[in-house]
Amino acid sequence: MSKLVVISGGANNFGKGIAFGFIKEGWNVAIIDNDKKALEKINEKNLFKFHGDVSNENDIKNFYSEISNKYNRLDVIINNAAIGGFKNFFELTLDEWKKVIDINLTGYFLMVKYGSPLILENPGKGSIINISSTRAIMSEPGNEAYSTSKAGILGLTHALANSLGPNIRVNAISPGWILHENESIKDAEHKQHLVGRAGTIEDIFNLALFLANDKSGFITGQNFIIDGGMTKKMIYF
Ligand SMILES: NC(=O)c1ccc[n+]([C@@H]2O[C@H](COP(=O)([O-])OP(=O)(O)OC[C@H]3O[C@@H](n4cnc5c(N)ncnc54)[C@H](O)[C@@H]3O)[C@@H](O)[C@H]2O)c1
Repeated sequence: MSKLVVISGGANNFGKGIAFGFIKEGWNVAIIDNDKKALEKINEKNLFKFHGDVSNENDIKNFYSEISNKYNRLDVIINNAAIGGFKNFFELTLDEWKKVIDINLTGYFLMVKYGSPLILENPGKGSIINISSTRAIMSEPGNEAYSTSKAGILGLTHALANSLGPNIRVNAISPGWILHENESIKDAEHKQHLVGRAGTIEDIFNLALFLANDKSGFITGQNFIIDGGMTKKMIYF
């Protein structure tokens, strides 16, 4: 039977692009997303869709219970679901802060807590990929909740690599400026990158595919920055 990858936030943009990339490579794919309308629009044979909230423990348990019944295996978990929550620090409420941490960080924890036992059961080894952001290590004003959630993911990643080794490898991907499908930006915005362009969802998929399979078998606990060099460019004004 084909390998199975589950992807949170798989109904739109990164998650959807990564899901279709894995399907093209012959994998089975299951997605969980709380955007019902976007889920309904996706029609694909090798894709299992589940409507749920990654910050809700019962939704995650039900998702994996259906996965277990339908596929009886799990190879890879890609944590991707997130919200922005950018807001002036002095106006950011405690509830807004908690919502970002609940979805962006606790959601990743829950996806691994209830998914990793399935990987260990069958096939016995696998890979977890946590989508973070370059905002985990750099900021603009009003980034507190989002940046904290993304930095937390880096800590969660190396902690899990220790707890789940040797059979499950755990790595993070930190994207910079990545364009959504049909999104266009100014030439100068492209050219500021050391590689002369902003990123694409395909760039993220290619790295995720590498981290998902055995070709990256000696890599765990790491954070891969994929930003066209922007975090290596000094900007003082
Ligand atoms: N777009 C970028 O340039 C960029 C840069 C760095 C990092 N990232 C990260 O990449 C990932 C994907 O980014 P994107 O641009 O595709 O985001 P997006 O907002 O377009 O998609 C996120 C998906 O997660 C889903 N989602 C949100 N809350 C959820 C919840 N509680 N339960 C289940 N699903 C939920 C949404 O419905 C959506 O389908 C995110 O983790 C984001 O932080 C994006």
